[in-house]
Amino acid sequence: MNYDKLDKRARKILQVNDRGLYTVPTKGLYPYQWNWDSAFCAWGIATYDVRRAWAEIETLFTGQWDNGMVPHIVFHKQAIGYFPGPDVWDVPRVPHTSGITQPPIAATMARSVYEQDKHYGRVHMELLYGRLVSWHRWFVKYRLHDGMVAITHPWESGRDNAVDWDGAMANVDGSNVGEYTRRDTAHIDPEMRPKKEDYDRYLTMLYFSRDCGWDEDEIAKNAPFRVADVGMTFLFLRACRDLLHLALELDHETDEIQGWITTLKGGVERHWNAEHGHYDSIDLRTGEFANSLSTGSFLCWYAGIDHPQMLAHYERIMGVVPFGVPSNDPAASTFNPKRYWRGPTWSNVNALIAIGLAEMHHITKAEELRKATQSLIAEHGFFEYFDPYIGTPEGGDNFSWTAAIWLTWASPHAKGRF
Ligand code: DGY
Repeated sequence: MNYDKLDKRARKILQVNDRGLYTVPTKGLYPYQWNWDSAFCAWGIATYDVRRAWAEIETLFTGQWDNGMVPHIVFHKQAIGYFPGPDVWDVPRVPHTSGITQPPIAATMARSVYEQDKHYGRVHMELLYGRLVSWHRWFVKYRLHDGMVAITHPWESGRDNAVDWDGAMANVDGSNVGEYTRRDTAHIDPEMRPKKEDYDRYLTMLYFSRDCGWDEDEIAKNAPFRVADVGMTFLFLRACRDLLHLALELDHETDEIQGWITTLKGGVERHWNAEHGHYDSIDLRTGEFANSLSTGSFLCWYAGIDHPQMLAHYERIMGVVPFGVPSNDPAASTFNPKRYWRGPTWSNVNALIAIGLAEMHHITKAEELRKATQSLIAEHGFFEYFDPYIGTPEGGDNFSWTAAIWLTWASPHAKGRF
């Protein structure tokens, strides 16, 4: 295998998807700046151009709302071929944005970009720090529920149609959304995307929040969907630890962030589903566990939490599929190796799981996962996701975060850690 060529190809993908000061996840399917995609891109770009990596994060924060929220999409320039676009979200600000957020990994990725070149990055980090704090404060003020992070829309999780939301989604009435035209299925095989009944509900939730003027108190009280997302709780806990590290580095007050970390650790305990023996999401409208073992649960190590039962589940699942980590338990009746977050393997999530495993001293497992992901990308290409049984590529091609993950972690020339 010619790894130099693959490194070059990965850089090329990020350059082709570069729109000046931000990177689109892939041409056509996702023509704007997405929040956690962009944070992954910054991490990848920093391996060859630290200045451009800072620009990526700073451009994302031009979408930050006055209340601190950083939206899941920033619509810098009108593009065709994506639904729902800025006209549907109808957020009265410039640049236009969506009205919901996405996994807050920016603090973690900014830390990594900063550590790549502290001399160059110092002033950027100083300026970004306050913005990161205000985003985290927004989460704490509006989204912490008993120390767990609540999402108001499956798109906020970044794992759109994961089985974790099935119970909560069933209670959302999607019958009144009227006619609309999806664009995603014009780019990608519909079998690899969420179903129409999912989209009907996605739009119902969007319309509810939009029609109440994105009022977080009203959304907390009455929105049709509110789930404590185990993946989000782990990613936010990790991000708060990285923010704490940055606070110490920059000589800022740390009490507030320490407090968040303590609260989140309490939340992690509430995510434990004792009946099924794993971390799990909870429908906050009914109080019921999702009873789903998805990759959200396996982000525990990345948050600095180890558990023997999680390791046992991980070993069982990785023993069944040759190209893991699958986004859903292959033993579940809901498992589908093609449909987006209901079974396929994602390289970006693999990187987070493996880095967590390594940090928690499961070095062999971490290295096995890195090697397996390396072969998957080397043999099948820089795709959005992969079939965990046969490794076939799925979703969008020339995918930015897959290229970024290659450069930072999966390539034999990558550092393979933060
Ligand atoms: C999409 O449109 O599929 C996105 O995941 C929503 O953010």
